[in-house]
This record gives sequence, C-alpha cells and structure tokens, in this order.
Amino acid sequence: MVAASGLALPRVAAPCPARTRGGLRPAFLRLAPPVALPPRQLRCCASTVDDGVVSAAASKPRLPRVVGMGSKLVGCGSAIPTLSVSNDDLSKIVETSDEWIAARTGIRNRRVLSGDETLRGLSIQAAQRALEMAEVKAEDVDLVLLCTSTPDDLFGGAAQVLAEVGCTNAFGFDITAACSGFIVGLITATRFIKGGGLQNVLVVGADALSKYVDWTDRGICILFGDAAGAVLVQACSADEDGLLGFCVQSDGNGQKHLNAVTANDESILSNTNGVPGFPPKKATYSSIQMNGKEVFRFAVRCVPQSIEKALQEAGLPASSIDWLLLHQANQRIIDAAASRLDIPSDKVISNLANYGNTSAASIPLALDEAVRSGKVKTGDIIAASGFGAGLTWGSAIVKWG
Ligand code: ACO
Repeated sequence: MVAASGLALPRVAAPCPARTRGGLRPAFLRLAPPVALPPRQLRCCASTVDDGVVSAAASKPRLPRVVGMGSKLVGCGSAIPTLSVSNDDLSKIVETSDEWIAARTGIRNRRVLSGDETLRGLSIQAAQRALEMAEVKAEDVDLVLLCTSTPDDLFGGAAQVLAEVGCTNAFGFDITAACSGFIVGLITATRFIKGGGLQNVLVVGADALSKYVDWTDRGICILFGDAAGAVLVQACSADEDGLLGFCVQSDGNGQKHLNAVTANDESILSNTNGVPGFPPKKATYSSIQMNGKEVFRFAVRCVPQSIEKALQEAGLPASSIDWLLLHQANQRIIDAAASRLDIPSDKVISNLANYGNTSAASIPLALDEAVRSGKVKTGDIIAASGFGAGLTWGSAIVKWG
C-alpha cells in the first residue's frame, strides 16, 4: 500500500490496538509524512484553530492503517429539553385531542427547546454522557459524527460539538439523513474504524424539528419533539465485532411525500440591474410537509424488509433478536414491523409516548434509556432501524457492549 505521501506503509494483521490516551491517531493524520509545521500554521485536522496553541500532529507516533477491525458500542447518553408539551397542551392550539393523538400515534408528550436551550447544548450533554459511560476521555475521540437535519448552523455543528466537549484530537462532520441519520452515522462510524483505523468515534443523533413544524397544522405538530442521543463506537478485534449486519437504502422519488424544502422568499437587492433572476433570493426553509398515509405505508413495507436484509447479512434469524428498536415515529408502525418480523411486544423498545418523533435522536435516546434502566444488557442483540425523509431507511443488527 502506498500512502498519499509516497511512503510505503506495511499491511499488518489486525490485533486490537490497546486503548491509549491519545496514542492512536486518525488515519488521515497517519497517512501524512511527519513534517514540522511552521509556527502559526493551522492544523487542518485538529479542532483547535487558535494559532497561538497549534502544534504539529506529526510528532506523535504513526501507525499503519488497519483493515478488518471490529467495532463495538461501549457507551451511550442522551439529553432532552426541559419544556414538556402534552397532547392536552396541543389541544389548546389546534383542534385535536389526547384521545386522537394517542390512538393514532401512541404519543402523549414531547419535549421542545425553549429559552436559551439549543440543539448544540443537547448534543454536547448527550456526547459527554456517552463518553462517561464508555470511560473514554474526550481527547481520545478520533471522529465526531453529528447526525442532524436541523443544525444550529447551516454549515454544520459537529465541529462546535467536538470543540465544546473537548475532543481536541478529533475531526467532525455532519450527516443529514433525517430520521435515518443515526443509523447512517452508526454504520459510517464502523466503516471509519474498520477501514480507517480509528479507535473512538462518537455518533450523535440530534434534531429540533420543532423549529420546522407549522404549529397550526394538526396533522404535523402533534408528531415531533426535540432531543439528542449519542453512542461511543470503539475499535475492537474482528471477532468481537458488534455490527453484525446492516442495510441502508434511499429513494428520492418519495421525497414528495415528506420534505422541508428551501423557499426563496426574500429579495436581497431590489435593483437587479437588469439581470433577470440575479442575485438569487435569500433562502429560508418551508415548514415540514408530509403525506402521512404514504409515509406510513412506506415505513410499514420497507422497515421489516430492511431488517430482514440486515439479518440475512448477519446470518441470523429474527428469533435471535433480543430487542427491536425502531425509529420512534408511530406506535402503529412499530407494532406492524414487530408483527411482520414475529417479534413479541416484550422485546420491543418504545419510549414514543414520552418524546414523540425526535428524528435522528430517537434511536439513541431510546437505547440510552433502555441501557440505563438495565433492560438492554451486555451482549444483547438489537435490531435497530431508522426511516424517514429523503426518503431514506436503514437497519443495523448490533450487539450492545
Ligand atoms: N387531531 C384530530 N384529528 C386529526 C388530526 C389531529 N391531530 N390530524 C388529522 N386529523 C383528522 C384528519 O383531518 C382526518 O379527518 P377526515 O377523515 O375528516 O378527513 C382524519 O383525522 C384522518 O387523518 P389522516 O391523516 O388520514 O390520519 P392517519 O390515520 O393517517 O394518521 C398520521 C396521521 C399519524 C400522521 C399517520 O399518517 C402517520 O403516522 N404517518 C407516518 C408519519 C411518519 O412516520 N413519519 C416518519 C418520518 S418523519 C421524518 O423523517 C422527518
């Protein structure tokens, strides 16, 4: 193998590297030749950009890329806003009732950002709790993936989250795949570990769809809530691998059924100087548009198929699943998928009643509650599946711990 720098790096068999404090460097650092950066030059791969404190990463030992590692889930955390909004509260805003919402969706309450609360704040708390449970120091994290469709900053929030958590040796970026975001992030993390030699990857699923909801539309506003959840994925030997199988799919033809598109509604300049259509109008986002019936049909059809494909890849029957953990969108969707897969209700994780649909946060939030309550135990096999806008959907068969 020849690295980009021209240095020949040996391939090695894949023993599990010891968890060292800052010892393992991300692959993109390892592939660069050891060069001393001139003072005041910024390190593109560090989270610190203050030119007074930048030091060259090259002084740390470099390891060759390791292909074939396993990855396991070793910690989780979550955070929710303080404001709880019940179905009865909503019935004062729109014509609805607790009875209708609970019967059609299973939702009774949801949490909504208020006051000074931000999605970034929730993401940071969730990430810190996952690190605490994993007993991994922030500086030992190599990569932070922020799975969200509603970042505080259009350009992404991962860099800010990792900076505030103190992941000084990590790189980060956002993943946008709506309610499938966490599953996509989880799988991406394992690929970076398996093929990129990373040691610790923090996957945060966080969304604040309350900002994109039309609170006068009773068909939409009853469904969503805000939250963040996180998981620490760590390198391990291939025979300990906790990702047993996965499947990810998308179909843009279904985007018409669920979207929040940009709306060009504000002229920046009144005088276009004779050039038609230029400059473009300032974009904002329209509120969420959804054909609930179509999305429901899509979910009930595609989610069980996706789990079956992931199980097939894992070489496992549905009966080996200890827990079914679906994106928390509608209890009727969860029940239909469980019934199709012949999974009894006592093996189904659901906290939808308390939080509604929290998009990319729903799976790690429910996982965190289930792990902390002692429901999910080390070695348990979880079939997790996300689905939603895009349309996107995906499943992962994972072993906890
Ligand atoms: N309260 C009272 N009545 C209501 C409400 C409400 N909140 N909302 C709709 N209704 C009425 C409708 O007006 C309609 O009345 P009508 O028969 O007189 O016309 C009736 O109830 C039935 O409405 P439907 O929209 O047909 O209700 P449905 O059973 O389909 O339930 C729901 C709607 C809950 C949205 C369902 O379709 C659903 O859950 N779809 C899936 C949504 C989903 O899973 N999204 C996931 C992805 S989210 C993401 O990716 C961002």
